[in-house]
Amino acid sequence: MSAKSCKVVQWATGYVGKTAIRHFVSNPAYELVGVLVTNPKKVGKDAGNIAKIAPTGVIATDDPEQIIALDADCVHFAQLVQDIDMICRLLRSGKNVVTPLGPYYYHGRFSEELETIEAACRDGGTSFHGGGIHPGFAGDLLAITALRLMDRVEHIHLYDVLDHLANPSSYIEFMGFGRTPEDVLENPGRSPEAPLIFAQSMEMVAHTLGLEIDDVTSKLNLATATQDIAWSDGVVSQGTVAGQHYEWTGLSNGKPIITYHCFWKMGEENIEPNWDCGPSGFRILIEGNPPMDMTLRTIAKPGEPLRYAGLPWTAMACVNVIPTVCEAAPGIVTHFDLGVPKLHGLVRD
Ligand SMILES: NC(=O)c1ccc[n+]([C@@H]2O[C@H](COP(=O)([O-])OP(=O)(O)OC[C@H]3O[C@@H](n4cnc5c(N)ncnc54)[C@H](OP(=O)(O)O)[C@@H]3O)[C@@H](O)[C@H]2O)c1
Repeated sequence: MSAKSCKVVQWATGYVGKTAIRHFVSNPAYELVGVLVTNPKKVGKDAGNIAKIAPTGVIATDDPEQIIALDADCVHFAQLVQDIDMICRLLRSGKNVVTPLGPYYYHGRFSEELETIEAACRDGGTSFHGGGIHPGFAGDLLAITALRLMDRVEHIHLYDVLDHLANPSSYIEFMGFGRTPEDVLENPGRSPEAPLIFAQSMEMVAHTLGLEIDDVTSKLNLATATQDIAWSDGVVSQGTVAGQHYEWTGLSNGKPIITYHCFWKMGEENIEPNWDCGPSGFRILIEGNPPMDMTLRTIAKPGEPLRYAGLPWTAMACVNVIPTVCEAAPGIVTHFDLGVPKLHGLVRD
C-alpha cells in the first residue's frame, strides 16, 4: 500500500487526538475519513473545528458503529480509558489500530490482553501497535538505541521531568498537588498499577540485553511548598504537596537493571526538597562503560517557559508508524517488528 492511500480515523479528540487530526490534515500521506468523540458537545462538529484548524469536511460522531462501518486503513485510538473489546472490534472490522494506551509489550499481566488482541488481528487480517512517548519511546526505544553504543552496562536510568507550573493542566489537582503529604502517601496520584504498565518498557530493554524483568520495586518521595504557589487555576498552599518523585526499579536476577524516575513538580523554586532533576523533558543516564548521558527536550520560545512536549510526541510516536503498521503482517507489531520504519510526509511546506 502506498502511504498516500492511508485512510485514517481519529478516535477521541483530547490533546493527543487533536494533535493527530492537525497532522493528518496537513500531511498528504494521510486522508482523515472519520472522527469518534465521546463529548456530546462535539458530536456533529467538523474535525477542523474541534482541532482549531480550517474545516475538513469530516464530521465527528459518537456512534462506534459508524466508525466500524467505514472504509479505513487505520484507527488512532486515543481515548482516556482503555477498551480492549472496542480495539478488537476495530481490528476484526479490517482496521489496523495504533494507540498510546497500550498494551506495549509482552510482560506479566498484559500477556492475556495481547493474546486477545493477537486473535482479533488474525480474524481481521490486521495489525496493532501500542506506542507513545513513555511508555513507547523514551524509556524503551530510545534507551535500546543508546545501548547499542555501550561496551558494558550496569544500570539504566530514565528521568521523566514535568514542571506543572510551566505546563498547567487538570493533572495538578488529579495528581494531588495541594493535598497534605499524609493524604497523598495514603492515596497516591499514580495507581499501584502504573509500575506494571511501565514494566512493559523495562522488559523491552531487558530483552534487548538478553535478560528478563523478574520484579519491579516502587518508591514515592514528596516535596512540599515553602510558600503558596499560585498557578493559572488555583494555589498550592505552603506545606502541601508541590513535588512528587516516583521511582520504579526493574530487577533482573535479583539485581537492579533499570530505574524510571518520574519527577513532577510545581516550578523550579519554592519547593523542599528541590530535587536536582533539570527542566521538563526526558534524560537517559547509563552507568557502565563508557557512561552515557542523553537528554530529550524541546526548545523554549523566547520569553516563554520550557514546554513539556510529551503529549505532541505521544501523538507523533503512534501516527508516524501508521503506514508501517498497515503494511505489517497481521498481529501485534512491537518496536522489534517495526525495525526502522520509513517516515512519510514529515518534510513538507
Ligand atoms: N504512552 C504514552 O506515552 C502516553 C502519553 C500521554 C497520554 N497517553 C494516553 O493517551 C490517551 C490520550 O491522552 P490525552 O492527553 O489526549 O487525554 P485527554 O486530553 O484527557 O483526552 C482524552 C479524550 O478521551 C475521551 N474521553 C473522555 N472521557 C472518556 C471516558 N470516560 N471514556 C472514553 N473516552 C473518554 C474524550 O474524547 P472527546 O473529547 O473526543 O469526547 C477526551 O477528550 C490517554 O489515554 C493517555 O493515558 C499515553
